[in-house]
Amino acid sequence: MNCKPTYTANPDRYADGMMKYRQCGASGIKMPEISLGMWWHFGGINAYEESREKVLFAFDHGVTCFDLANNYGPPYGTAEETFGKIFDENLRGHRHELMITTKAGYDMWPGPYGIGSSRKMLMTSLDESLQRMKLDYVDIFYSHRYDGFTPIEETMQALIDIVHSGKALYVGLSNYPADKLAAAAEYLEAQHVHPLIYQGKYNMLVRDVEEKHIALLSKLGIGMTAFSPLAEGVLTDKYLNGIPDGTRAALKHHLKPETITPRLLAKINALNSMAAERGQSLAQMATAWLLSRQSTTSVIIGSRTVEQLSDSLNAIRNTRFTGEELIKIDQILAMQ
Ligand SMILES: NC(=O)c1ccc[n+]([C@@H]2O[C@H](COP(=O)([O-])OP(=O)(O)OC[C@H]3O[C@@H](n4cnc5c(N)ncnc54)[C@H](OP(=O)(O)O)[C@@H]3O)[C@@H](O)[C@H]2O)c1
Repeated sequence: MNCKPTYTANPDRYADGMMKYRQCGASGIKMPEISLGMWWHFGGINAYEESREKVLFAFDHGVTCFDLANNYGPPYGTAEETFGKIFDENLRGHRHELMITTKAGYDMWPGPYGIGSSRKMLMTSLDESLQRMKLDYVDIFYSHRYDGFTPIEETMQALIDIVHSGKALYVGLSNYPADKLAAAAEYLEAQHVHPLIYQGKYNMLVRDVEEKHIALLSKLGIGMTAFSPLAEGVLTDKYLNGIPDGTRAALKHHLKPETITPRLLAKINALNSMAAERGQSLAQMATAWLLSRQSTTSVIIGSRTVEQLSDSLNAIRNTRFTGEELIKIDQILAMQ
């Protein structure tokens, strides 16, 4: 007997108000205001059924973009395997509705070729990602970082050749210093491959991209996705009374508990009160704050549970801030 759960997509997933879509830079492609990232909570250590439920919940609510990388898990590669299984069993018939992304550049396999932004790394890694995800092509292939070593020309030529091979429709860049981003874009444009999108860390607590990247991206017609919008969970109410079990700080999943200082918590507390006045959770307000910026094409959220996902998706209901609210947020963030 076949006990596989069957899936029928929500017929109202594109109905008015379910999700909103924004033009990506100067391109013809639209991205959902919220994308689902699979860095944590979708790996081999996680229950497959929970991962499946979150991906399909997102798709049913108009999320068309799923963000992966070769080494998401843990263990490395297993988030792509999870996605591949979910895709194969449920979403293959919807392939043309999906923007599926992956990346290469950080450590992936042992030895000198398993890390960095060389041609060998990018090409080999993408082939393995496609196998794990059971895909013929990804929509966006990102150079995950400028590695400080590989010549920009080598990395960009590999991306161009990948697009020409049909294994990726678009090219993205992530974690590039502004000057390297400009050089990369110039090389790509010279060969008629427009860099579609830049992926950078951007949230109320980490605003480096505001210095140089945002103006440059706008000038170059490149879209921008913001990752870690909740500062890995810090921009929520969860740490106001200690470190709860199961959270990233408790599990030491990248987020170091010692970064959650009393001074930081005073700011979070004040932001939390402001969010309540707006009728939002702090997670929603932090995401809405990013979406209130025209420069943001999409916010990539991470979700441990379907409840968190549902809460975060509702951020799109109110992305307007008054001038006074924006000033108050800056004042809270500047508190000593
Ligand atoms: N390009 C890059 O280098 C790069 C780097 C990092 C991330 N990314 C991408 O960005 C995605 C998102 O990053 P991220 O996971 O750091 O994002 P995030 O949204 O800042 O953090 C996600 C964490 O926030 C908490 N959370 C989420 N929604 C919540 C809600 N509604 N209420 C309360 N808590 C909530 C959960 O923490 P708990 O688990 O503690 O409950 C969750 O694990 C990644 O999956 C990946 O696709 C890219």
